[in-house]
Amino acid sequence: MARDLPLILITGKTGQVGFELQRSLAVLGRVVALDRSECDLSQPEALRALVQRLQPDVIVNPAAYTAVDKAETDQAAAQAINGAAPGVLAEEAARLNALLVHYSTDYVFAGDDQTEPYTENAATAPRSVYGQTKLAGEDAIRAAHARHLILRTSWVYGAHGANFLKTALRLVQERDALKIVADQIGAPTAASLIADVTAQLVAQYLHTDEPAAYPYGTYHLAAEGETSWHGYARYVAAAAQQAGVALKATPERIEAIPTSAYPLPAPRPANSRLDTQKLRATFGLTLPQWQAGVDQVLTLLLHR
Ligand SMILES: NC(=O)c1ccc[n+]([C@@H]2O[C@H](COP(=O)([O-])OP(=O)(O)OC[C@H]3O[C@@H](n4cnc5c(N)ncnc54)[C@H](OP(=O)(O)O)[C@@H]3O)[C@@H](O)[C@H]2O)c1
Repeated sequence: MARDLPLILITGKTGQVGFELQRSLAVLGRVVALDRSECDLSQPEALRALVQRLQPDVIVNPAAYTAVDKAETDQAAAQAINGAAPGVLAEEAARLNALLVHYSTDYVFAGDDQTEPYTENAATAPRSVYGQTKLAGEDAIRAAHARHLILRTSWVYGAHGANFLKTALRLVQERDALKIVADQIGAPTAASLIADVTAQLVAQYLHTDEPAAYPYGTYHLAAEGETSWHGYARYVAAAAQQAGVALKATPERIEAIPTSAYPLPAPRPANSRLDTQKLRATFGLTLPQWQAGVDQVLTLLLHR
């Protein structure tokens, strides 16, 4: 007997990842993508009622309180959205036997306690309110015993939304010189890559004959390779220059500075590197070098 199309609920459709998920998941089922006004993660009872009404087969939750510095003084809101709401979604997913896909961050790690990339089993020790609330969200999902995937990622950017790539591209055209932090290391990861990998994982889930045997759990998802914010900014500047953009701050005018020279309210991990071996091996995936996604987004931004 033909099965109805699966219903896939996406929260936070206006965000970088939420925007890309609407495209990548559209081939897998009937997508209901909602913004904050339609699905507010700070309202647990309304959120619960919404999920009960929609009865999705898959819930994908890219919505989050992502203002890392603001979270330091807005802890209650960050905790409600990042810490509590994922637990509500997971409890409802468990009731429905639905899959919950959730996103987390390298900020759950201290970032200064090892130089190797972090594996999924590495000890967590968030140093910021944002990181603490994101870890609370992970814990709440695990406690609900729902079918779930927690995908930790890092340094997200896309053509849609605000991010470091777009800021760097603007500043190299506006300013004569830039000073950018060079002692934080990570992998810029495209929102489109996160959305495409999510679609692969959801497709494997929807097509499995044995949902009980599916490899649920926590995975690290980031592009291959690594750079610093300084290296990233220089790469963006060089690519823009090559594309014919008139720069004031050419790559050689982007100076490397230490984190200590650019203090921010929330501490940043020095080591944001995530080991993606588990994801690649479990699902048979290849992840592109970080430059590939940056080139693609720059092409979109510069040739619009
Ligand atoms: N950005 C990064 O560098 C990064 C790094 C590692 C992990 N992550 C994680 O990756 C995921 C996606 O991040 P992103 O970069 O796509 O985030 P983003 O672009 O900042 O988007 C966040 C989304 O969450 C929504 N939102 C905020 N508060 C909400 C609420 N109370 N109810 C419902 N929706 C709400 C926002 O809606 P509005 O448009 O109305 O504000 C927006 O759609 C998040 O879980 C984030 O923690 C991000």
